[in-house]
Amino acid sequence: MSSHPLEEPGVSSRFIDPCVLVIYGATGDLTARKLLPAIYNLAREGQLPSQFAIVGFARREKTHEQFRQEMKDAINQFSRVKPVDETLWKNFEQQIFYHQSEFDDDKGYQGLDTFLKDLDTRFGTKGNRVFYLSTQPRFFTTICEKLHASGLIYNTHTVKDKWSRIIIEKPFGHDLESAHALQKELLQFLSEDQIYRIDHYLGKETVQNLMVFRFANSIFESLWNNRYIDHIQITVGEEIGIGRRGAFFEEAGLLRDIVQNHMMQLLSLVAMEPPVSLNASAIRDEKVKVLQALRPFTEEDFKTSIVRGQYGSGFVNGEEVKGYREEDNVDPKSNIETFVALRLFIDNWRWHGVPFYLRGGKRLPKRATEIAIQFKLPPGVLFQEHDKQHEPNVLAIRIQPDEGTALKINCKVPGPASPIQPVKMDFRYGSYFGMSPPEAYERLILDCMSGDNTLFAREDEVFNSWALLTPVLQAWQDTDADCFPNYQAGTWGPELAEDMMTRDGRKWRLL
Ligand SMILES: NC(=O)c1ccc[n+]([C@@H]2O[C@H](COP(=O)([O-])OP(=O)(O)OC[C@H]3O[C@@H](n4cnc5c(N)ncnc54)[C@H](OP(=O)(O)O)[C@@H]3O)[C@@H](O)[C@H]2O)c1
Repeated sequence: MSSHPLEEPGVSSRFIDPCVLVIYGATGDLTARKLLPAIYNLAREGQLPSQFAIVGFARREKTHEQFRQEMKDAINQFSRVKPVDETLWKNFEQQIFYHQSEFDDDKGYQGLDTFLKDLDTRFGTKGNRVFYLSTQPRFFTTICEKLHASGLIYNTHTVKDKWSRIIIEKPFGHDLESAHALQKELLQFLSEDQIYRIDHYLGKETVQNLMVFRFANSIFESLWNNRYIDHIQITVGEEIGIGRRGAFFEEAGLLRDIVQNHMMQLLSLVAMEPPVSLNASAIRDEKVKVLQALRPFTEEDFKTSIVRGQYGSGFVNGEEVKGYREEDNVDPKSNIETFVALRLFIDNWRWHGVPFYLRGGKRLPKRATEIAIQFKLPPGVLFQEHDKQHEPNVLAIRIQPDEGTALKINCKVPGPASPIQPVKMDFRYGSYFGMSPPEAYERLILDCMSGDNTLFAREDEVFNSWALLTPVLQAWQDTDADCFPNYQAGTWGPELAEDMMTRDGRKWRLL
């Protein structure tokens, strides 16, 4: 139970209780692409408890053997380490099972209860359960209600010798009101400390490293405030469009899909105060204070500091791609945003007056997630004649891909003329540590099994984030986006986003 987010990757020093992991939606895309490959890699690295089993839950008829074969195929396709190690697999597959049922079928839950008890006897899993809800959010309440009714969720006050936890995939609600409503429904059946709201960004090595970077290095922390920092940019760019997820995206949009969760988590980690310790509540308390201090948007902000965009056709990597409105399962007149740019302020002592610019989008020129801290220029008394070359220091933290950190500093070019040139000090995870970081899901699944919820979003984080963004969603819902599509696929978003920066005398970073 004593793990913390700074623990060395790939080395688990924790004791993890025996348990069964039940995956709801086990025949879905997420299970095949992320969850099973993550669990396989944990098994490969010897991080799972020896008393362990997995049960896939979905509605299609399937034998255990068919499910195992499908999962093996998925691991061979999607795992970061492949092909599957046959010797390991022979043992590992004996711990994988399939349970067929509809999510709302009482009989299916009674059958599951009997089956899990049988697994407890065979594998020594001691009644401990993780239920991973890899399903559409509309099923969350039904599944929890049925699990509770069939005795599969334990009351944490009365049951002390075994535990049950629920991992919930995003989105948690679709606005502030629905997030509160969902929380109220879930709390009828389980307690907050049994709910693990997964945001896979928090499981990324580079995101965990943010705290180490800030709080284990005195050189940065002392500059981490409005005296030295001019502004911060957070970019989450994807070159892919919405692919086969048209129906999903039409309901969600980019603000809900990326900004409300991933970007707000990055923002709170980069802006939080040092926590009093590394325990989950201390860290989450500090993160939530940042979200509470976000300045609500004004009417003026809607004109100047909030930009929505939607991609039209264009070229990405030399290939012609269609516009959002021409994608499958998308309304040809869709108002849904595939790009968002925002300017935020955090009204607290440290960040007063420092703008945080957020930009996220689909069909941008490249896949890149980055936090860039731009420092103020030093007083221009000595190098005025070099003003053009003299650029502000920028600390760029690359979350993905090419994980690492770069610091831009000004340097004298050798020779008598003394021109100044910005140079880059660059640290790359891959080349320095000689390994690519493990998948976020590996870390997070293991954390849940060990009862560590540090890297999962707490209810008040979710609510505060929705509180800021719900008025934006409402305003967008009420007004047609006449200008859509307003950026070409393969570009960095609409001109309005550029205008927002130009008005502030700043520029988006070229990534
Ligand atoms: N895919 C991703 O990369 C990704 C990333 C982040 C978050 N998420 C979230 O994760 C969740 C799952 O995504 P997904 O892409 O894996 O979904 P998906 O491919 O549509 O899979 C849905 C799963 O739910 C099962 N299911 C649906 N209705 C059911 C019912 N009434 N009774 C029993 N089983 C039922 C399906 O079983 P059958 O096949 O047997 O019908 C299937 O296993 C979603 O909330 C999504 O937003 C997904």
